Amino acid sequence: EKEFHLHPKPLALESNGPFGKFDRAQLQRGFQVYKEVCSACHSLKFVAFRDLKDLGYSDAEVKAIADQWVIQQPSINPDTGEPATRKSVPADHFPAPFANEIAARAANNNALPPDLSLMTKAREGGAAYVHSLITGYRDQPAELLKKFPTAKTPKGLHYNPYFANLNIAMPPPLVSDGQVQYTDGTKPTVDQMGTDVAAFLTWTAEPKLERRHGIGVAAFIFLLVFSVLTYMSYQNIWASKK
Ligand code: HEM
Repeated sequence: EKEFHLHPKPLALESNGPFGKFDRAQLQRGFQVYKEVCSACHSLKFVAFRDLKDLGYSDAEVKAIADQWVIQQPSINPDTGEPATRKSVPADHFPAPFANEIAARAANNNALPPDLSLMTKAREGGAAYVHSLITGYRDQPAELLKKFPTAKTPKGLHYNPYFANLNIAMPPPLVSDGQVQYTDGTKPTVDQMGTDVAAFLTWTAEPKLERRHGIGVAAFIFLLVFSVLTYMSYQNIWASKK
């Protein structure tokens, strides 16, 4: 119901605002959260492993990361009768966690985990929505059940006031501090992991954000200088008519 639905909490990211830039260390932490938690269910089909170089990883590191993902090939392995597989290479995109939609739904209580590449563009609130959603699970409020006694969260769904219809098929993905072990000294609280993965998904949805901001600032400065010059030439042209 409308009154129980919450708007996303504001989320302060370095990439916010017209001068915003990505925090590379945060993007790397966010990638780690995606890799260790979200990638079990969610694909990232528009991102190639080599795109991760933008996060500050070296060629060798990208190669090592790609090496951890297995890609299914269209051919059949003649020895096993199963689809042939190979390790990913930097040019590959992230492989999907499930073979197809039927397998994905079978593993998720008939719901389909959406691709996350463009999620921060697809939902109102963007990164703030993703952060609030994954950290916002709670018990169903007593007032809700009092008002709508038949609206108990169905079995297999989870109450989340940030989700449009309040009951979501995704189980809480971040449940305890330290679920992911950071190597840069940042404390992996649930809120920190949620913030970092939201920052990472801001990058996947718009890797050229910094370029856009830079062009915006340059265009603004250009127009400012242009306006001054226009005003000065106007003064000059009409000077003798005063
Ligand atoms: C849906 C993010 C981990 C299963 C979603 C949505 C987002 C999201 C943004 C879309 C919600 C919407 O439609 O507005 C994440 C992130 C994760 C994560 C950032 C890691 C931190 C997981 C895991 C699973 C999962 C581990 C499986 C165990 C699902 C399912 C849905 C979903 C089934 C569809 C829910 C529905 O339509 O009711 N997730 N997710 N997610 N996620 Fe995740």
